[in-house]
Amino acid sequence: MTYRIGVIRGDGTGPEVVAEALKVLEAVRDGFDVDAVEFDLGADRYLRTGEVLPADELEGLRGCSAILLGAVGDPRVRPGILERDLLLRIRFELDQYVNLRPVIRYPGVQTLVPSHTEEDVNFVVVRENSEGLYSGAGGFHRKGTPYEVAIQESINTRHGVERIVRYAFNVASDRRRHLTLVHKTNVLTFAGDLYQRVVDDVAAEFPDVRTDYVHVDAACIYFLDQPSRFDVIVTDNMFGDIITDLGAMIQGGMGVAAGANIAPDGVSMFEPIGGTAPDHAGRGTINPLAAIAAMQMLLVSLDEVKAADRVHAGIGHATQRMKSMRAAEMGYATSEVGDLVVEGATS
Ligand code: IPM
Ligand code: MG
Repeated sequence: MTYRIGVIRGDGTGPEVVAEALKVLEAVRDGFDVDAVEFDLGADRYLRTGEVLPADELEGLRGCSAILLGAVGDPRVRPGILERDLLLRIRFELDQYVNLRPVIRYPGVQTLVPSHTEEDVNFVVVRENSEGLYSGAGGFHRKGTPYEVAIQESINTRHGVERIVRYAFNVASDRRRHLTLVHKTNVLTFAGDLYQRVVDDVAAEFPDVRTDYVHVDAACIYFLDQPSRFDVIVTDNMFGDIITDLGAMIQGGMGVAAGANIAPDGVSMFEPIGGTAPDHAGRGTINPLAAIAAMQMLLVSLDEVKAADRVHAGIGHATQRMKSMRAAEMGYATSEVGDLVVEGATS
């Protein structure tokens, strides 16, 4: 078996963390081969050629078994270009409609909330990844005048909501069978109403799964005050974006938080959710664990469970030895953290 893994190293610290993830992959793989196909996409390509995601590269991505992405974004490029035309475009074009973000705490990790135990923080956010406020619907009127109007609309389709909610119920069925809808139904009385009705409808197919509802602002309180109340959260694109950054902080920081952009019937893409950290680029100070955890999720998606379990064990081996999850405070260089994971994964 040979998997064709698309690799987008991307910008900032992306290349450094991807290198560690690939190192770990090489160490744990057993019974399968990997053909790593490099895609030169990101700020450098854009600044060199003006291209963000040419059609042939997109076709190349469609031909992969899975994609590993480092990070995109660069201070030299106007905000929005790489984010929208590269990252979001891939999510949309490949119909990666699920953004799966586990909020888990690895052994030995300290966080900003001293009252949490390791057991408290163990849930999954299922973020809608193809519509909502991210659809790009809207526009300006009279731009640049004192009368200007900016409209940014949230598009929520029955089809889009139903498929993400059904996916979340399936995730919940395999976990502690508790699904929480997070939204803002008291104010977003149309979109929120649609989500709630879809949850109620789909619930009939999953009689074993208990459901409840939490407003997004209250969810932020619970993330800090009582994270153990969550098992699986389903939410829209924008709320999911925001709460998973808070989720990362109760995991120990952006350095350990990974996410999967899943196309259940197509090609999925795995990424550390932390961004490019330009201040740390090229210094060997960034934490590669989020990218390594993204690789772990990639292996799960390929059904390479044994290799995925090894990576998981390797990450735990590393976190028990590192001083901190924060860049430059780990007590190890980026590549040494990768070595620790390999040591733990192969011992
Ligand atoms: C994320 C990021 C992206 C998003 C940005 C870079 C477009 O914040 O993956 O969470 O908003 O989805
Ligand atoms: Mg985000």
